[in-house]
Amino acid sequence: MDIISSCSQVQQTCMQARHSGRTLALVPTMGYFHQGHLSLMRWAREYCDLLVVSLFVNPAQFGAGEDYQHYPRDLDSDVTAASEEGVDILFTPGQGSLYPEDYATWVEVEGMSGKLCGRSRPEHFRGVATVVCKLFNLTCPHKAVFGQKDWQQLIIIRKMARDLNIPVEVVGRPIVRQEDGLAMSSRNAYLDREQRKAAPMVYQGLLYARERFESGLTDPGQLERELERYYQKNLPQGEIDYVQIVDCNTLDRPDTLKPGALAAVALKLGPARLIDNILLG
Ligand code: PAJ
Repeated sequence: MDIISSCSQVQQTCMQARHSGRTLALVPTMGYFHQGHLSLMRWAREYCDLLVVSLFVNPAQFGAGEDYQHYPRDLDSDVTAASEEGVDILFTPGQGSLYPEDYATWVEVEGMSGKLCGRSRPEHFRGVATVVCKLFNLTCPHKAVFGQKDWQQLIIIRKMARDLNIPVEVVGRPIVRQEDGLAMSSRNAYLDREQRKAAPMVYQGLLYARERFESGLTDPGQLERELERYYQKNLPQGEIDYVQIVDCNTLDRPDTLKPGALAAVALKLGPARLIDNILLG
């Protein structure tokens, strides 16, 4: 595995590979790998000739007062894990090379970026779309692989690629969970023992929502209210940011519940902001 931190070097290597007819896949990450990240690499490895994983904790997607400084980092263990997954290039740019001092260009996917997580993190998706657009330009992948855990991110990146005519297929892969149902996340490292014990309730709530849908509930508003009550009762230490039912492609609120609706939730449990979602039907 090559570890490359220079933008021009990674771009040259990837462009040459693409021109010579090799297939490229990119898995963008912020590191501190867990099985969720590794599942994306494993899937991409099967598909492509050249597998590029980027590792960059992107300051532009963290708001003021968020956890940029404290975001967990462990480069040595990430290098070992990526190499064991057969990654060809681990791209680890420095902050100054992606955002030099005179940096001035931003990618904004209007509409969608203000929904769900965008309501409490207004700058977040601008930072995500910008860095992913830059990573696409630097690595020119045929496919880029994202987790469905960050469903809104996946939909926004797909829309950005389409709107900006970037020749990449944006692939979404299923959420990888701990045995007790908690969606894997680098931020789970923030949970203390009590919070970790309570955290699987986030997913239990989503399973409850799916059951209510399957038993014939059709009113999205009622399902949101029931799910909120579920969390208030079963996860009282959680502070709900949002509980929302949306169309999985547009993120708009559907008039009535039908297959393709997504139940999405964000809540704070101690220092960790946990997000999760489930497709209904
Ligand atoms: P990060 O949180 O490191 O996640 C990298 C990728 O792993 C994302 O596509 C995310 O959806 C996926 N992922 C995280 N947890 C997962 C899980 N439990 N199961 C399956 N996939 C999972 O998302 C980011 O980084 C950044 O916003 C990034 C796209 C790299 C832009 O900076």
